[in-house]
Amino acid sequence: MKKRSGYIPALHYHWLTRWYDPMMRWFFPESGINADLIAQAPIQSEQTVLDAGCGTGTLALLMKQAHPDVAVHGLDIDAEILRIAQRKAAQAGQSILWRQGTATCLPYPDQSVEHVFASLLLHHLARQDKQHMLREAFRVLKPGGALHVADFGRPHDFSMRLISWLMRWFEEIHDNVLGLLPVFMTDAGFHPVETITHYRTVAGTIALYRAVKPLRRDGFCAAK
Ligand SMILES: C[S@@+](CC[C@H](N)C(=O)[O-])C[C@H]1O[C@@H](n2cnc3c(N)ncnc32)[C@H](O)[C@@H]1O
Repeated sequence: MKKRSGYIPALHYHWLTRWYDPMMRWFFPESGINADLIAQAPIQSEQTVLDAGCGTGTLALLMKQAHPDVAVHGLDIDAEILRIAQRKAAQAGQSILWRQGTATCLPYPDQSVEHVFASLLLHHLARQDKQHMLREAFRVLKPGGALHVADFGRPHDFSMRLISWLMRWFEEIHDNVLGLLPVFMTDAGFHPVETITHYRTVAGTIALYRAVKPLRRDGFCAAK
């Protein structure tokens, strides 16, 4: 089975997309990561948040349930996975603003969002696209807003080093394992950039990062 050109689907191959939620529940500490990501973001009433690369919408849905008066946007490049997200939100009776598009050129105005989330998105993007996505997150964030990332990070113990060594050429993980995500965030203009915590998983270290947009400076759009 070949993946379609242009982007890497959630589980690498399109035919596996329908199994994404059960796979995440069985093999990944998904609920803990989502809860910690939401906890690290001081989301307040009436704010706007964006989940970039939202996949099946699990995180967006949790945010909406935790903060009913917040406008939650979910963006993904894959129409098929967005349909799953839409179905889940409808079943839960939650109103989320879904949109198909690329995280490397976000279809949102400058300084329109208080929090951008990117959970397990960046290892799907080649180095230049990672950098474009981070600059786009910077652009759409209001000054003082923050980017919250969960993704593969530099391995933090021996077993994670071993797994990361095996995984390092899978998808676009290599820069993550080298510890470059915080460097790219700083290059995009974020300050401070903090590693909040990390998890041991079957696929290697997953790190949570928080990167704040300081009160001045503009962003960048890859397609402009
Ligand atoms: C591993 S899944 C993560 C989904 C969800 N955020 C989560 O934590 O479960 C990666 C997602 O990124 C999406 N994706 C890949 N490239 C993208 C791009 N350029 N722009 C937006 N989404 C993209 C894929 O379609 C997929 O849904």
